Amino acid sequence: MQTRPSSPIGFAPPPIDDDSVRAVERVLRSGWITTGPEVAALERELAAFLGASHVGCFGSWTEVAELVWRWWGLGPGDEVIVPAVTFAATANAVLHCGATPVIVDVDPSDWNVSAERIAGALSPRTKGVMPVDLAGWPVDYAAIRAVVESAPFEAANDRQAQLGRPLFFADAAHSFGATYRGHPVGTQADFTAFSFHAVKNFTTAEGGAVVCALPDGFDRDEIMRWLKVWGLHGATRDALEKTRGGQWQYDVVGDGYKCNMTDIQAAIGRAQLPKYPEQLERRAHIASRYDQALGLLNGVQLPAREDATRRSAFHLYALHLGGWRAAERDALIDALREDGVPTNVHFIPLPRLTVHRARGVDARVYPMAERHFAEALSLPLHTLLTEEQQDWVIARFIHHFERLR
Ligand SMILES: Cc1ncc(COP(=O)(O)O)c(C=O)c1O
Repeated sequence: MQTRPSSPIGFAPPPIDDDSVRAVERVLRSGWITTGPEVAALERELAAFLGASHVGCFGSWTEVAELVWRWWGLGPGDEVIVPAVTFAATANAVLHCGATPVIVDVDPSDWNVSAERIAGALSPRTKGVMPVDLAGWPVDYAAIRAVVESAPFEAANDRQAQLGRPLFFADAAHSFGATYRGHPVGTQADFTAFSFHAVKNFTTAEGGAVVCALPDGFDRDEIMRWLKVWGLHGATRDALEKTRGGQWQYDVVGDGYKCNMTDIQAAIGRAQLPKYPEQLERRAHIASRYDQALGLLNGVQLPAREDATRRSAFHLYALHLGGWRAAERDALIDALREDGVPTNVHFIPLPRLTVHRARGVDARVYPMAERHFAEALSLPLHTLLTEEQQDWVIARFIHHFERLR
């Protein structure tokens, strides 16, 4: 008989340790706290970790996603294909540009969007494709790339004419540290954006990063510069550059945005990054303990974790309760909460949200997303979870699962 652990179980507490605290203190006392040398260093370190040449840090995934879409020239009348099961931000970044997110259903084998679904939603108005590595599990990048490369396309500006196809922009908010065909997720699409939000595997409290891996012929240095300039008011010099001798003058080349990461945030990331590979292994270990304990329960679909080409970043332990109704799943959530086990649902599908219903999206057209909505349940998965806590989660899950099904 399992006893309830004395310390409360968190759902996804940040792994902030003494090194992070010391790093923040060092920056706070350094005399420079906004964007500066720490952000530049984090960008270099992320590039090395990802095996990427062009990485930029910004204030959030959402901010940099909108910036990239604006660089691409996305606007009214344009379409971007997004999956039905994701966080609202994936589609919001498209809506911010006045364009239309075209929502496609997901594949119940892994709950990601498939290349076939994307192919079926292409139109002459498709200007971009944004798949999501749900829960940290990579989409089939090669298959999606093949679809994007043979898509019909009508270019509306020079950048689009140069690429000659829709932009392949990956939402890797969950998959920092996942691998696809042996390489870290980040360089498989034209752009890939990560979120460093407080609940993510790797966090800077708030923040995000983008990798530019556009084909040769694109001036990637210039593109990163464009993103930095437009992410800081459209100004040609940032605050630090202006303090340097003879550089006080600047121009503002357009009505830019305010999307910069601060050195305080970057310092948190820099303190964490050397520890991240070990944290990923810890996550993998916790996921495999769940797999072993829950895999034999009738009807439970375990999250995808590893196959011949992919390895998850183990961001969420998102399982599915095969055949359950939403009310039954909700009763399980309530019972677990009573027992001190926090859970979550990732996510309420986009077609159920008012923002999309108001523009005519009908949830009934997305049967797999509807199934996901009824069956999905995420259990705590984080590096601070002790074995005692996990054993309690497992015991209470099995107890209530057997009782309620
Ligand atoms: C799939 C997905 N995309 C995008 C985002 C947005 O990230 P951010 O909060 O850094 O803007 C999130 C955040 O939770 C997410 O889960």
